Amino acid sequence: MRYISYLAVLLVLSLHGSGQKKTIAQKVDSVLRLMTLEEKVGQMNQYNGDWEATGPITKDGDKQNQIRRGMLGSMLNVTGVEHTRELQQMAMQSRLKIPLLFGQDIIHGYRTTFPIPLAEAASWDLAAIGQSARVAAKECAAAGVHWTFAPMVDIARDPRWGRVMEGAGEDPYLGSLIAAARVKGFQGGHLGDTDAVMACAKHFAAYGAAIGGRDYNSVDMSLRSLWEYYLPPFKAALDAGAATFMNSFNDLNGIPATANGYLLRDILKGKWKFQGFVVSDWGSVGEMINHGYVNDNYGAAKAASIAGCDMDMESRSYIKNLATLVKEGKVPLAVVDEAVRRILTKKFEMGLFDDPFRFCNDARAAKEWNNAENLAKARTMAEKSIVLLKNERNVLPISKTTKTIALIGPFIKGIRDNLGFWSYEWPDDSGRIVSAWAGVQKKLGSGTQLLYAQGCGVTDSSRAGFDEAVAAAKNADVVVMQVGEARDMSGEAKSRSSIRLPGVQEDLIKAIQATGKPLVVMINAGRPLIFNWTADNVPAILYTWWLGTTAGDAIADVLFGDYNPSAHLPMSFPRSEGQIPVYYNHFSTGRPAKNDHDLYYVSAYTDLPNDPKFPFGFGLSYASFTYGDIKMSSAVLKPGQSVTATITITNSGRVDGEETVQLYIRDMVGSVVRPVKELKGFKKVSLKAGESREVSFTIAPNDLRFYNDKLEYVFEPGDFKLFIGGNSRDVKEAAFILKAD
Ligand code: BGC
Repeated sequence: MRYISYLAVLLVLSLHGSGQKKTIAQKVDSVLRLMTLEEKVGQMNQYNGDWEATGPITKDGDKQNQIRRGMLGSMLNVTGVEHTRELQQMAMQSRLKIPLLFGQDIIHGYRTTFPIPLAEAASWDLAAIGQSARVAAKECAAAGVHWTFAPMVDIARDPRWGRVMEGAGEDPYLGSLIAAARVKGFQGGHLGDTDAVMACAKHFAAYGAAIGGRDYNSVDMSLRSLWEYYLPPFKAALDAGAATFMNSFNDLNGIPATANGYLLRDILKGKWKFQGFVVSDWGSVGEMINHGYVNDNYGAAKAASIAGCDMDMESRSYIKNLATLVKEGKVPLAVVDEAVRRILTKKFEMGLFDDPFRFCNDARAAKEWNNAENLAKARTMAEKSIVLLKNERNVLPISKTTKTIALIGPFIKGIRDNLGFWSYEWPDDSGRIVSAWAGVQKKLGSGTQLLYAQGCGVTDSSRAGFDEAVAAAKNADVVVMQVGEARDMSGEAKSRSSIRLPGVQEDLIKAIQATGKPLVVMINAGRPLIFNWTADNVPAILYTWWLGTTAGDAIADVLFGDYNPSAHLPMSFPRSEGQIPVYYNHFSTGRPAKNDHDLYYVSAYTDLPNDPKFPFGFGLSYASFTYGDIKMSSAVLKPGQSVTATITITNSGRVDGEETVQLYIRDMVGSVVRPVKELKGFKKVSLKAGESREVSFTIAPNDLRFYNDKLEYVFEPGDFKLFIGGNSRDVKEAAFILKAD
């Protein structure tokens, strides 16, 4: 239904009157002039819906009246053509008929679930990641959603933090590229297209550094670390056009992020000139009372609005206090006007003043409902996300003519677990989501017999199913196990102090391994887990994360060699929780250990090596890649110039494969000490069996910048090392000198 709002008519009339085309800024000002203070504050107010994705549950009369009185700017968790239309119709009964914005956590898909974001990050494939966000946007935009609360761009070095599953891992360079790819994917060609949703870079800022990996916890960090590691993906999201930002729950060095003027006014809206608007996190304005930062919601509304938080998600602090605060002269009207201007600008850009219902479209929603193209893209993304961690004796890929395969473990026949945290359930899920069992079954002909045993539950301590599982293994030629975390074990408020394989799952692996049968273990998880025994003893390991709707198909493609694994870890995998945080771009210290056995008054643990079990960037292929030596175009780099590092990569395996060639540098001496390695580039290269190819990286002084102790972004002359390899540990090395002139 095409709907021209009262306001749109007013604006069109004034536009004709002046004979000029109004800019969005002028239109926003015209609206602002018509608004009462209470209506302005209403635009800064966001409520959760009384609806669940699948249908209405209760209807809160007060909310509906508030919508009709123009006291609400946005709602979250309201999706579906029917529900969004119903609420928007209420907004159209308000005096000024300002349309509502509908926001939703579309984190890795809506109708079609893609792999969890951390898994997608393992693909290092920016085009595929962008494509995943594009599909999510198309599907939800047809169902009335205008705005996704994604991407989460928090750098995270602590796998105890359950929300690592939502981000792109530990590295600011990779994280920035992925942040930009996701923003562009969600927002499409142009905000205002009906297949584009507004992106929201979250959580601003440093949420990933919560102390002890405990969700919502405090963050205490140097401003240098903030600028160097935690802010770059936000800047990249902004540069890619992110329409909105979301505050984080944590305090940063004692000031809650929601009322952090340094973050919001000085950096985001000041130095970075962000033109969109900032939404609080759920209730985070009111939570400043618990932080001990303000006395009450009145104080919270004052602190957050002045600091630059434009919209209050669910705490009701603004709607109850902001108008009074303005009338009392405690919050300048200009603060409210600025926030409303930002919010209205986005509503205009989204075309909602022209047609508030343009995103609820039955025909488009139906087209996206069972869309084979979207499912195919999800399968490709899932294949690209699976990391091959080990493959001794070429246990993988499994021959399709194998006579008997035993499929064992608590997830083999799992359906909804494949979706991971932050996903949507649909009534037809059981027929739609592909389990590993179903994927393998579809792949193989009648010549292969499949045996099944669950073996054990995810977290329970019972070994009652072990005997049946061992018997199945003994009767098989090859055994494939699927173990790991349930989908709700990694995600928001899912911090864990132990990140081992839960329950008796590793004991089950030991029992199956003892049969001597060729064994493949697949690990589902939303975070790096610790599974040292498995890593040391089982010949073949695939890290399968949570892969989404088409999980089983992608798994079968990899198990049987129709897809050759190409993913690389976006986070270091620790050997023990005591090692956390363990990350590749650490400093050297004054007493670096010479090797794993060096314990003589050096920076080391006496009971385990410093390095992680699997390093950042690690990932194998059914092919094997050998690296030649690095050739530098010059040993000297000068301002205004660049040097090129070239290396020859050979696929020395028997099958075609894809390698992610990674470039790291080390600035040997700095006015502040520099990390032992920093990722500065990567290239994905497909090589036929036996093929060799030269791969080159160009480095300019700008690539060597860092934040000095005055927070200036500088490069400093001196010696640099340069490394190229297939992960952050196994690299070839060269050197160059950066000269001052
Ligand atoms: C999360 C956000 C999310 C919001 C709305 C919060 O608890 O931290 O990431 O967007 O809820 O669901």
